[in-house]
This record gives sequence, C-alpha cells and structure tokens, in this order.
Amino acid sequence: MNETPILKIPVRPEWKFVPSDIEGSTAKIYDNLFSAYDEKRFEESVELFPMRQQKWGVPLEWFKDKVCLDVGCGQGRFVTALGRLGAAKAIGVDINEKGLEAGRNRRWFKELNNVELMNSSAGDIPFVDSYFDYVICSGVLLLMPEPKKGFDELVRVTKPGGRIFLSMYGKGGLKWALNDFFRFFLIRWVPFTFTEKVFKAVGVPPNKRYNILDNLYTPYTHRYTEKEIRQWFEDAGFENIRRVKFERYDYETWQSRLIHGEAWIQIMADKKK
Ligand SMILES: C[S@@+](CC[C@H](N)C(=O)[O-])C[C@H]1O[C@@H](n2cnc3c(N)ncnc32)[C@H](O)[C@@H]1O
Repeated sequence: MNETPILKIPVRPEWKFVPSDIEGSTAKIYDNLFSAYDEKRFEESVELFPMRQQKWGVPLEWFKDKVCLDVGCGQGRFVTALGRLGAAKAIGVDINEKGLEAGRNRRWFKELNNVELMNSSAGDIPFVDSYFDYVICSGVLLLMPEPKKGFDELVRVTKPGGRIFLSMYGKGGLKWALNDFFRFFLIRWVPFTFTEKVFKAVGVPPNKRYNILDNLYTPYTHRYTEKEIRQWFEDAGFENIRRVKFERYDYETWQSRLIHGEAWIQIMADKKK
C-alpha cells in the first residue's frame, strides 16, 4: 500500500452534478466499454502513459507529488498511471458512472490510496480554481456540444505554472469522410446496441470496437486544426505550447495527411505564472 497520505481535493460548495440530456446519451455509448477490458488489456493501457511521457522527454519524476486531474477519465487508466508515479493525488472525473465503477473494481485501485474517481462533467468541474499541477483531458472535449467551454474549465482549475495535456481530433482526411458517411446513415437506421453486439460477436477487441463505435454514435465528434487548439492555449495565457506525436500516425507524409487529415492532436502546455 502506498504511504502517501490521501489529499482531499476541495469541491466548490455550489457544485452538484446534474447530467444534461446530451451527457446522458454520450455516457450511454460508453456503458459497456470499460468493463469489457480484462486486467491484462487494462494494464497495457495504463503502461502507455509513462512510456509516452518518456518518449516526449518528460521525466517521470516530474509527476511525483503533483496534484493531478483527469477530465473524462473513463475507467481511470491515466489516474492509475499518475497514482503509481507518486502523484500527491490523482483524481478522475467522468459522466459515465459504469466506467468509474469498473475502474474502482480494478486491482490497482485497491492498491493505491492516492487515487479517486468521481461522477462529474467536464462542463462543470467540481473543484476550486487554480488547484491542479497537471490536468489531462484526452478524447473528451470533442464529445461536448461546446468543447471550448470544457477547455475553459480545464484552464480554470489549473494552477499558474501547472500543465494541461489535451488530446483532440484533427480535421480532414478520408477517414473522417468515410466515418461521417456511415454516421449519417447508420445512426438513423441501426441502433447502437445492435452494432455493438455485431462488433462483439465478430471478435473486435473492446478498445478497437470503441475507436469506431463512439465516432459513429456519440451526439458530437468535433474536430479541429492544430492552429485552432494552439490559439486556445495562447489566448488562455499558456506557454511552452507543443504538439507531441502519437505513435500510430506519421502525419507528416502526404499519404497520411490524405487519410488522417490533422490526425490526433495532442498538445501539452504550461499556464504562465
Ligand atoms: C474516448 S473515452 C476516453 C477515456 C479516457 N480519457 C481515456 O483516454 O482512456 C471518452 C470518455 O469521455 C467521457 N465524457 C464524454 N463527455 C464528457 C463530459 N462532458 N464530461 C466528462 N466526461 C465525458 C465518456 O464518458 C468517456 O469515458
């Protein structure tokens, strides 16, 4: 058992989570995702975090004693990774209670005492202003009706000198054109539960299943250019704004741009002191 004392993160007194209709239908898409991971697949998904940070030149000691928040944490793979890296506290919030429950039932959750998962929205983060050293939000804001409002929330809770790591879909590419073609027809005629069962029956693993299904069925899948996301950070008073590479795409070649467009935009930036 980790000896770090549990840090209680202050919640705004007026905060109460009342999911909107959009949040309810978005959350539903993820209901069966996280519990479908076996322990091995979950462990692999946790290990990606330290592996990538090192690759991007962030020493793992940087996370030690940091107060960390993962917004739209799913079952908390990054929360786990941060907890293991010795964060003072790593807390995750998500609108999908089933995912959080799957996370709380993982072996790691019982082994760490510096982690917590909480049912709440990126649109109204429960915590007080300027509290977190590190805020991660991966593949979440793009599901909101107004992603910029979610971004403003990330900025609000980040300490001056703290860091945000944001991942968003990039615009363009044949992949999105194909997705949107199916999205237009499929969601009108074929219920999500049916498509989900078919994918499961033919043996598509849970992570791959949802890489495809959520893009087809969530109410929103916003996409941006790198320039637009950089501008958000600049306007919010951030520095050291840098895009880090996602290993799955080499989006500098024209062939990749043609297929993936601006691909997966991952930006790290530090809030000016
Ligand atoms: C693609 S999954 C990513 C999960 C996690 N960030 C990860 O990388 O493993 C999207 C997650 O965002 C959550 N989500 C969607 N809209 C949200 C919102 N408004 N506030 C908080 N979480 C949200 C979903 O419930 C789901 O768990």
